[in-house]
Amino acid sequence: MQLESLLKAYGETTDRTISARIPAIDQPPGRLHEAMRYSALAPGKRLRPALVFLSAAAVSADEVPGVELAAASVELVHAFSLIHDDLPAIDNDDLRRGRPTCHRQFDEATAILAGDALFALAFRMALEAPNGAAVAAVLADASFRLVQGEAQDIYAEGTETSPEVLVFIHAQKTAALIAATCQMGALVAGADAETVEHFRQYGEKVGLAFQIADDILNVTATAEALGKASGSDAARGKATYPAAFGLDQSRTMAQQLVEEAISLVPSEPLKQLARFSIERVS
Ligand code: IPE
Ligand code: IPE
Ligand code: MG
Ligand code: MG
Repeated sequence: MQLESLLKAYGETTDRTISARIPAIDQPPGRLHEAMRYSALAPGKRLRPALVFLSAAAVSADEVPGVELAAASVELVHAFSLIHDDLPAIDNDDLRRGRPTCHRQFDEATAILAGDALFALAFRMALEAPNGAAVAAVLADASFRLVQGEAQDIYAEGTETSPEVLVFIHAQKTAALIAATCQMGALVAGADAETVEHFRQYGEKVGLAFQIADDILNVTATAEALGKASGSDAARGKATYPAAFGLDQSRTMAQQLVEEAISLVPSEPLKQLARFSIERVS
């Protein structure tokens, strides 16, 4: 199957799995549940759950029952991180996935709490996946790294940032969770520690390349194409690859990471996904 069709199919399974676990809007407090659904089921690429499915498939030829729980759990952590990332105290953004951000559509308290609730639900689901304790541990470590990255991203705003700190921010805020998706997919499929580590390395490289591409798109793409603000990183003095290295060198660095990632995995869809992480237009 082509990567595009795979992403669509895995995304639909993920959305069904998520939807089944968020309480209905007619259950109290309905406004919280509505905000959780609004953000977690909004149209995104669903790249992280796809990586869980593809990593599991690369390890086990047989379908792994319960892999969708691990896939959905990562997407919920991602959704939580986006809601909080957009808050006035962090990036203060009005647009996400082509719609008003959660705090704009609802209110700030609801957005904070919807993020908290999605984060909790993520771990409930990760624990129910095959090899759940190990899967949840990987998700927890990556989530902590994500929060460290978000903190450093804010502290670095408007400052001169060294290349080391820039790599730290991007590795923590984005590559950690993407690497975790690959480890989680391998773990649910019963991979040994060496294989899991191999997938982690692939994911760290794809994740870093993915965030460099996000930085580049913030400079080169329109808000309409992205479904979120463009030009905002420079306006806020964010530590980004284009700011530190320029667009051309940033592209070369992302390309290099993708080549390295591709050489680490035998799976054709994972190689395609690595390329997609930087060739994407949104
Ligand atoms: C956006 O992630 C935040 C970053 C880590 C760059 P995505 O580009 O995967 O966002 P969605 O899920 O498609 O909206
Ligand atoms: C991406 O943050 C990482 C997380 C949300 C944890 P950014 O602030 O760089 O991403 P966008 O551009 O808002 O999606
Ligand atoms: Mg941010
Ligand atoms: Mg942001």
